[in-house]
Amino acid sequence: MIPIRVIILSVLVFGSGYGVEEDDTNLVDYYEQLINIEYENAAKYKLDKNAKRYKPDSEKQNTDFGTYDFIIVGSGSTGSVIANRLTEINNWNVLLIEAGGYENNFTDIPAMTTISLLSDYNWGFLSVPQKTSCLGMKNQRCPFPRGRALGGTTVVNGLAYSRGSQESFNQWAKMGFPEWSYDKVLPYYIKAEDYPTEWKEGQEIVIDSDVHGKDGPLIVEFSEPESKEYPNYIGANEDLGYKVIDLNAGTDEGVSKAPTNTQHGRRYSAYKAYIKPAESRGNLKIITQSYVTKLIIENSTATGVRFAHNGKYYTAKASKEIIVSAGSISSPQILMLSGIGPKKHLKSKKINLIKNLEVGSALREHIGISLYFSSNYTLENKQLREYIQEFLRGVGGLAAPGPNDAFGFYQTKVETIENYPDIELILVPNFGNVTKDFSEKILNLKDVTYQTYTKQDPNKRIFRIDLFGLHTHSTGTLRLNSNNPFDYPLIDPNLLTDKNNRDINTLFEAINMVMKLIQTPSMKKIDTQLVIPQLPACRNLKKLSQPFWECVIHQVGHPVYHPVGTCPMGQVVDENLKVYGVDKLRVADASIFPLTLTGHPNAPCVMLGEKVSDIIKSLYGVK
Ligand SMILES: Cc1cc2nc3c(=O)[nH]c(=O)nc-3n(C[C@H](O)[C@H](O)[C@H](O)COP(=O)(O)OP(=O)(O)OC[C@H]3O[C@@H](n4cnc5c(N)ncnc54)[C@H](O)[C@@H]3O)c2cc1C
Ligand SMILES: *[C@@H]1O[C@H](CO)[C@@H](O)[C@H](O)[C@H]1NC(C)=O
Ligand SMILES: *[C@@H]1O[C@H](CO)[C@@H](O)[C@H](O)[C@H]1NC(C)=O
Ligand SMILES: *[C@@H]1O[C@H](CO)[C@@H](O)[C@H](O)[C@H]1NC(C)=O
Ligand SMILES: *[C@@H]1O[C@H](CO)[C@@H](O)[C@H](O)[C@H]1NC(C)=O
Repeated sequence: MIPIRVIILSVLVFGSGYGVEEDDTNLVDYYEQLINIEYENAAKYKLDKNAKRYKPDSEKQNTDFGTYDFIIVGSGSTGSVIANRLTEINNWNVLLIEAGGYENNFTDIPAMTTISLLSDYNWGFLSVPQKTSCLGMKNQRCPFPRGRALGGTTVVNGLAYSRGSQESFNQWAKMGFPEWSYDKVLPYYIKAEDYPTEWKEGQEIVIDSDVHGKDGPLIVEFSEPESKEYPNYIGANEDLGYKVIDLNAGTDEGVSKAPTNTQHGRRYSAYKAYIKPAESRGNLKIITQSYVTKLIIENSTATGVRFAHNGKYYTAKASKEIIVSAGSISSPQILMLSGIGPKKHLKSKKINLIKNLEVGSALREHIGISLYFSSNYTLENKQLREYIQEFLRGVGGLAAPGPNDAFGFYQTKVETIENYPDIELILVPNFGNVTKDFSEKILNLKDVTYQTYTKQDPNKRIFRIDLFGLHTHSTGTLRLNSNNPFDYPLIDPNLLTDKNNRDINTLFEAINMVMKLIQTPSMKKIDTQLVIPQLPACRNLKKLSQPFWECVIHQVGHPVYHPVGTCPMGQVVDENLKVYGVDKLRVADASIFPLTLTGHPNAPCVMLGEKVSDIIKSLYGVK
């Protein structure tokens, strides 16, 4: 059945009537001070190099933390959902163990997304030195930020709500997991969503209302205001024949205002959506600042977990199941530390083998680069206080999720599967100097890379387009550095190494697509100019030639914080997310996605949490 398409042009004037009066100077003072303090902290902040902050003084002592029906490790996009849904069953006791703490007023500001990465809310992982990507970064190491909080990475992420294309899920179905076809996962997207039905006058937004939910916990909005470039950018897409569509209705080619997980312009994390409403339930025990070091597995059955909290070790037991939801980096690490992983690798780290599985052997990531453009729009000349006033009304530059304004999905000639867009372009606006530029530190850039590539001319209105290759064929690895649980694992994304060069060809096609967009009448109208990267490594190549762009891609191409595939379905877990060969143990988070998605991973992780909760309930015969 073809869904009925509705274009709703609402006349609700959004942004009036929420919260505070404009003249609430105390609150403005508070936020101004908060932001300035956080800027100072970010400038000084040194990312953790390991997890030693959790390490107890003594290895020997061990305190019993009791027995629960279920233990969930990690309260991120997926774990938060499971904690909520399992505690709907009154007589199930659930322990949720999270290494981080609570989000705060600063992480709630959408525009501060990337600056929050320079704080304890980020684990601060870096890849091992790379040979094919991230060459313009310090020691050729790509950043691998991950959130550490109740809410996990949703406390620091870019807030884009993107389900992924039908074909992503149908590909899994074809790999032998029919229960994960698009038709089978759609009800769980609908269950999770509180999708918008009204927005500002004049914004053209398309919604396939048949496939959206209104009663779910996860709020979605369209941020305001749109950037100045936004109408030109949408116009450019239309000039090339691409339409404004609902990109969360299966995802064909097209463009849209980016839907975001915000409420009145504030971050709406998995914590707010799923944990907060369940926190007061008597059957949910949450323990924060607690770092799981190992699963206890007896006779091929997971029976408990060991964790470090406040200088001591604890052991908690599970009578029904343990669900590991620590994310694509930490879940495989915990499994390997517990004896589940590749036999040879575990042997080399002197870990007793419990189950030989290819954990961490096929890490996949989206690869992206950013291009910068000037236009003849002038910069907003606003002080921080004005932005704060707008934010308190739920609008403006601080309420806009830093990296995402419009996004579009397109299919290049590299992808041969039909209706399976393989590139994404994101318009990243510049709302004047609403935030300080910490890009050099966040992206781990060499000084020369920053000076010749990222740094913006303050006299021109410079916006960015982020280009992602979506169907990554290169695979990397995640391995233990040692058998010490407080060492960070070794992350090797190994991008752009696929045999047939599909990954680099895809990104090159994305660049061609961007060049077409900026040459349209709509973009010419604002005198859009590419800021040509001046990277020294590429200086001798003919500007804008294919070898030039390939050089740029190797220098600044990097993983875009969407790692998957480290505990993939079919290799490590079955289609019910149960670990092969170990009873009472599941993995549920982005690590189980066998392929990169045609979209961003947060919404699929939430869907996954909804679906696996139902799987568990039905196995135990409850609803
Ligand atoms: C900067 C950034 C921007 C992003 N932007 C977007 C976006 O705009 N849209 C989108 O869809 N996706 C985005 N993503 C990706 C997306 O947020 C993640 O893919 C998704 O949140 C992953 O969910 P998860 O359930 O796998 O794990 P997570 O949400 O990472 O949760 C794992 C949790 O486990 C905890 N944990 C880990 N190890 C342990 C341990 N040993 N003991 C106890 N607890 C532990 C962690 O602290 C964390 O809370 C972004 C990611 C980043 C880093
Ligand atoms: C967060 O801000 C609100 C006002 O928006 C304030 O009432 C609250 O005390 C702040 N929280 C903290 C921890 O400072
Ligand atoms: C181990 O598990 C097997 C199969 O589940 C069972 O038959 C056996 O009795 C168990 N042994 C012990 C010592 O628990
Ligand atoms: C940027 O911020 C500073 C400090 O708040 C302010 O003085 C300056 O006018 C701002 N510039 C622009 C272009 O908005
Ligand atoms: C921007 O550039 C276009 C094309 O060169 C020109 O027509 C237009 O007048 C310029 N606008 C401004 C504000 O300078």
